Amino acid sequence: MSSIRPYRPSDLADLSDICVRTGDSGGDATGRFSRGTLLPDVYAAPYVSHDPSLAWVVDNGERAIGYLVATADTREFARWFTEAWWPERAWQYEPRDDEMPGERTLIEAATDPNRMLIGDVDSYPAHLHIDLLPETQGQGLGRRLIDTLIVELRRRGVAGLHLTAGTANTGALAFYGRVGFSEIARDEGSVTFGMVL
Ligand SMILES: CC(C)(COP(=O)(O)OP(=O)(O)OC[C@H]1O[C@@H](n2cnc3c(N)ncnc32)[C@H](O)[C@@H]1OP(=O)(O)O)[C@@H](O)C(=O)NCCC(=O)NCCS
Repeated sequence: MSSIRPYRPSDLADLSDICVRTGDSGGDATGRFSRGTLLPDVYAAPYVSHDPSLAWVVDNGERAIGYLVATADTREFARWFTEAWWPERAWQYEPRDDEMPGERTLIEAATDPNRMLIGDVDSYPAHLHIDLLPETQGQGLGRRLIDTLIVELRRRGVAGLHLTAGTANTGALAFYGRVGFSEIARDEGSVTFGMVL
C-alpha cells in the first residue's frame, strides 16, 4: 500500500530515477541526454536542497515511486539556482561532442536567471514539479500530493502557486485543470497554470 510522506535525504537517488523516467513529456527520458544527471540537476535535486520541507514522496514500502518538489518563492529560488546551485555543477555541463539534440538548449536555459520568472510571478510566487512512475499514476496520489503542498503553502501565507507544462504532455495538462489550476499563459511549447491560494 503506497503512502505519502515527507521527503528524506535518502530518497534523492529515487527522485533522480523518477525524474528521468518521467522526463520526456511524462514518458521515459532514459538515454535522451548524454548526461543522466541533467534532468534531476535542473528539475528535482535543487528543490530538495533549497527547501526540503516542501517536498513529499509516494512510498511503496520499499522506495519512493513518485514525488512533488516545490519552492515557496520563485524569485529567491531562481537567484539561488543561478548564483549557487548551478555554478557548483557547471563543470559537468561544459560543451562536448556527444551531446544529444536539445541537451545544449536545456543547459543554456538552466543558466538563464529569467527562466523561472513568469510574468505573473508575484501573484503566483510558489512553483512545483510533480512526477509519478507509471505504476503510481491514476490512483489519486497526484491530487493528494498537490493538496498536501497547498495546505503547507497556505499555512505559510503564500499568495499563489504556478507551474509550467509542455504542450506535448496532454495527460499533465488535463490533470492540472482537474486539481484546481487555471491556465494563465501559453506559448507554442508550454502552458503555465496558476492557482490563487
Ligand atoms: C500528471 C500526474 C502528476 C498526475 O498524477 P496522477 O496521480 O496520475 O493523477 P490523479 O490520479 O491524482 O488524478 C487527478 C485528476 O486528474 C485526472 N487526470 C490525471 N491524469 C490524467 C490524464 N492523463 N488524462 C486525463 N485526466 C487525468 C484524473 O482523472 C483525476 O480527475 P478527477 O479526480 O476529477 O476524476 C502523473 O500522471 C505523472 O506523474 N505523470 C508523469 C510525469 C508528468 O507528466 N509530470 C508532470 C510534468 S508537467
